Amino acid sequence: MASTQTWDPQTYARNARFVSELAGAVVELLAPQAGERILDLGCGDGVLTATLAALGCEMVGVDASAAQVGAARALGLDAREMGGERLDFDAEFDAVFSNAALHWMKHDPDAVIAGVRRALRPGGRFVAEMGGYGCVAKIKAALLAALARRGIDGEALDPWYFPTVEDYCARLRASGFRVESAALIARPTQLPGDISDWLATFAQCFTAALVSEQRPAFIAEVQAALKPQLCDAQQRWWADYVRLRFRAIKAG
Ligand SMILES: C[S@@+](CC[C@H](N)C(=O)[O-])C[C@H]1O[C@@H](n2cnc3c(N)ncnc32)[C@H](O)[C@@H]1O
Repeated sequence: MASTQTWDPQTYARNARFVSELAGAVVELLAPQAGERILDLGCGDGVLTATLAALGCEMVGVDASAAQVGAARALGLDAREMGGERLDFDAEFDAVFSNAALHWMKHDPDAVIAGVRRALRPGGRFVAEMGGYGCVAKIKAALLAALARRGIDGEALDPWYFPTVEDYCARLRASGFRVESAALIARPTQLPGDISDWLATFAQCFTAALVSEQRPAFIAEVQAALKPQLCDAQQRWWADYVRLRFRAIKAG
């Protein structure tokens, strides 16, 4: 199914810089070594990929968005437009890394994992953080409720795959990985602006169901529903993120 989500590097940098800035723990789990060849799957605008390159890693980034790949190339990176479900690499990486991207690859996670395994050298590692089970549950519930009031089934529009540890680990093992660690981590995340900026950046698959004239009232309704839950007394907005962070080794 074609996604109605688009990625604009400028909007992403303005509203979502926290995504790469909060990747410290998964980078630590990756433990990148200078000289290693590492694939960054769903590299986005390449800002995080560039920090790994600065450590002396030989980085290749892939992303499905031509605009994001363009931004990554502008940083001097080897970035390629490629869907995670159709990775075209064969036993050439010491590690595959991914931050905040795998949950967007909803329709065939097993094809993504199989492509990662193919891309890795024997003994190579797959280290990633993605949205996990329950991620943005409050935001999603408000979106679905506002869509339901308009007679629209929001579940059918949901672009996200937020698996449990058990679900994702079963897929990894079935594909020939040994899971070294995997955990769900609740990570309420302060947003740089209002929830409407977050919705404009990440929730396009839901708003696309409405004609453009309907969207401002829809966003205002979702914002009002979420304010008591996600906006604190200092008027700071928080997204109810849950992350799934794991490290797995290509077995056999
Ligand atoms: C939230 S951004 C994360 C970007 C980057 N990893 C970071 O930490 O800033 C998610 C990225 O996943 C990419 N993406 C979504 N679906 C994809 C797919 N099927 N294959 C490859 N990339 C995909 C998007 O284009 C977007 O750049």
